[in-house]
Formats: sequence, C-alpha cells, structure tokens
Amino acid sequence: MTQIPNSLHALDVASLIHPQSNLRAHLETGPTIITKGKGIFVYDEDGREFLEAAAGLWCASLGFGVERLARVAYEQMTKVGYYHIYRHASNETAIELAAKLIEMAPVPMSKVFFQCSGSEANDTAVKVVWYFWHAMGKPERRKIIGRKMAYHGSTCAAASISGKPDMHQESGLPFDAFRHTEFPHYYRNQLPGETEEQFSARMAQALEDLIVAEGPETVAAFWAEPVMGAGGAVLPPKGYFQKIQAVLKKYDILFIADEVICGFGRTGNMWGSQTYDLQPDMISCAKALSAGLQPISALLMNERVFQALMIESDKVGHLAHGYTYAGHPVTTAVALETLKIYDEMDLIAHVKAVEPAFVGGMKALEDHPLIGEASGIGLIGAIEVVKDKATRQMFPAEADVMGQIAANARKNGLLLRIIGNRIAFSPPLVISAAEVDEMYRRMRVTLDDTLGAMRVN
Ligand SMILES: Cc1ncc(COP(=O)(O)O)c(C=O)c1O
Repeated sequence: MTQIPNSLHALDVASLIHPQSNLRAHLETGPTIITKGKGIFVYDEDGREFLEAAAGLWCASLGFGVERLARVAYEQMTKVGYYHIYRHASNETAIELAAKLIEMAPVPMSKVFFQCSGSEANDTAVKVVWYFWHAMGKPERRKIIGRKMAYHGSTCAAASISGKPDMHQESGLPFDAFRHTEFPHYYRNQLPGETEEQFSARMAQALEDLIVAEGPETVAAFWAEPVMGAGGAVLPPKGYFQKIQAVLKKYDILFIADEVICGFGRTGNMWGSQTYDLQPDMISCAKALSAGLQPISALLMNERVFQALMIESDKVGHLAHGYTYAGHPVTTAVALETLKIYDEMDLIAHVKAVEPAFVGGMKALEDHPLIGEASGIGLIGAIEVVKDKATRQMFPAEADVMGQIAANARKNGLLLRIIGNRIAFSPPLVISAAEVDEMYRRMRVTLDDTLGAMRVN
C-alpha cells in the first residue's frame, strides 16, 4: 500500500498500537479507518459500506450510532459529568443501574460492583474469590480453573484465567494459581463414535480429575462463558453445564459466569445463564450493557459472597479495591438507558424472532464445500472451515485460507470475526431477518470466491 505522507493512514502507522494485530504487517497494510456507522453497517473513509457481522467486538447491540444514548450522555455530562463512588460517595445513575441489574439477574444476586471493561470485571472477581476464601478461613483455596481456549480478558489475572496460548506466550502467564481444563468443542474434539452427552461427561470427568489432582482444598473457583466467544463462538455440548455444575457443587467450588458476551440477549434470553440453566455465584458482564457505546462493566455477586467480602472489609478497614471511573455517571446513565431501550423494544422477543433466520441461514452454509460445521443459538454462532468434511481436517496455516476469506469478505462488503479456522457471527442484536439473509448472501459469495481462487491456483 502506498502511504500518503500526513494522511490519516500514515499517522496511524506512525503513532498507533493496534491490539490483537500483527504489528509488523500493520506497517505495510495500514488501518481500515471506520468513519461512520448506521444500524448494522459501518463505512470507511472512502464511503465503502460493510455489514458488521460481529457487532464490532460482540458489543454494538443496538448498531453503530444511537442518538437516544448520545442525548443521555450529553445531558449527564452537562449535569454532573464526573463523580466517583469511593469512600461512601455515590451518584444517581450508578445506584439505579445497580438496582436494575439485581432486579434483572438470572439468579438471586445481592450487590453490583462496577468497572470499565470485561477484563476488569473478571480481574475484580479473582480478588473477590480470594477474599471470599480468606473470610471462610480457607486461604489455601487459591486456585482458579478456567478452560483451554476460553477468553476472559487481557489484564494479567483475566489473561491467566483465559486459556488461549497466545495470551500466555512470552509473558510468563498464567500466574501460579491458574489452571485450565478441557476445551468443550464437540465437533473438533469428539472421539470416534462419541455422542455429545458422552463427550460432556468426559469433559466433566476431566474437570473432576484436575480438581482431585490439585487437591480440592486448594481450588477456589471455576470460570466459564455460557457460549465461548473468542474461543470460536463454541456452544456448550448437550448436558455439559449440568455435569460441570454437579462437580463444582461436590467440591464447594465457586462458579463465575462470564456473561461479557452472552449477557443482554445474545443467546436468546437476557442471560446465557438462563439459556443453559447456570447457577453462578458471581456474574461478570459488559459490552451490550451499554450497547458498546460506553466503557462499563459490572460484577454481580450473591449474598454469600457479599457477606464474605464484608468480613474482609472489616479486617482491612475498607474494601481495598476500585477504579477511578467505576460507577461513572455517564457510563451508568448510558447503560441504564440501554436497558430501558431493551425493555421497550422487547429485545428478547426480537432476538427469538430473528433466531430461526440466523441459525437456519448458518446451517444452510454447511452445504458449502469449505464448511464442516455450523452451529448457533440466539444471535451467536460460527461456521468452521475445513479442507475435508469427512475427516474434519483443517487447511494448513501457511495456506492462509482464513486470510483469503477475510480479504474476500471485505471486497463483498462484509466484516468478519475470524478465530482460527472458525468464522464467528454475532451481529448487532437489532439486525432484521432480511439483514441476516443479506449477511449470509455475502458470506456465501465470499466462500465461493475463495474456493474459486483455490481451484484456479
Ligand atoms: C467473554 C469475555 N470476557 C471478557 C472479555 C474482556 O472484555 P474487555 O475487552 O472489555 O476487557 C471479553 C472480550 O471480548 C470476552 O469476550
């Protein structure tokens, strides 16, 4: 690409670090600069339209510009644009949002702790877990079990819970107390002849074996997303959470549901915990909490956890934890209004109405020679690209098939979230059935283009 000196492209390359990007390649390719958003579409500086199949980073639930939320932010900024909630200070919208989240929670929850990102919510939860076991007189319970390929954030503790090798490589992570159990990806990891239920039983057994090997008296908590997002939009196999939760209960291990992606309608219920009948002790949530338009996250905790936290606060003299922008009046005002919009539009009814087109359209792609599997629920799911459908063999990484798919998708006006050999779909929740059809039309053309080029080469 030719860089024009002083262009935005050149300035970007000269000055900006891009997360989850190849830094050297970026010097060559430069950025895609998005300058406008409307509904489920975004536009680059040349006015090219892209259908955003992943709602940005799974978060722009109401699309890429929402005037009503802009007005609320403006009004709040002019009324009181900042005040913290440290040392007994408070603000109206933080109070109202906390109360609303407790009212909405899928299981009885007692208190809400605000942060600014999903990573911080999970990071905070790690500390709360450790406080909890101190208060219970069992400080040796420190180990936290996550799952291979799970993603819970980028701060050092959240990355430690995560099970993605690239998040650990070259950084000395995970921290000592963190362990990882099996990746419950039935399509990819099933044994010959193994049913989904049998696979789930094997996953639960692997968790129990790990707990026993570590010593149950040292295990503090288990973390899981209802649907694994950045691991590839992988749905839990049948019976998985029922069996996993039985193991957790047996050893009195805390369960934290990471609802950062699944919370607020993504799986066809308000919470992924409702879709999969989870009984978590704490819930982390973010993203669609503010429709992705403000950086806010929340950690919900039940009364048992809160009581323990209070004991620790008594011992130390206060709760020695917090963030300057936690409970920020503008982020909480926007989140509160977002939840009002969800109520008014009956978000869950909308997602359920669009779900057949979303899941059915995805399943229809299974007939494509490049697609081995498609599975989705609500408005989240993925297709898996394979070289050979019968053996589920993948293309070698050097062939860069996924890179070609991403490039062809762009040409066809589609922005995709590609994870390994999977293509995740999690469009804005306001997407219509007709727009879902258009998304898959562009996807099929993209797959055809990619296959066509492969055959030529
Ligand atoms: C399940 C899950 N948890 C946590 C996070 C981290 O959230 P954030 O990027 O806001 O720190 C993410 C981000 O994608 C996520 O998908």
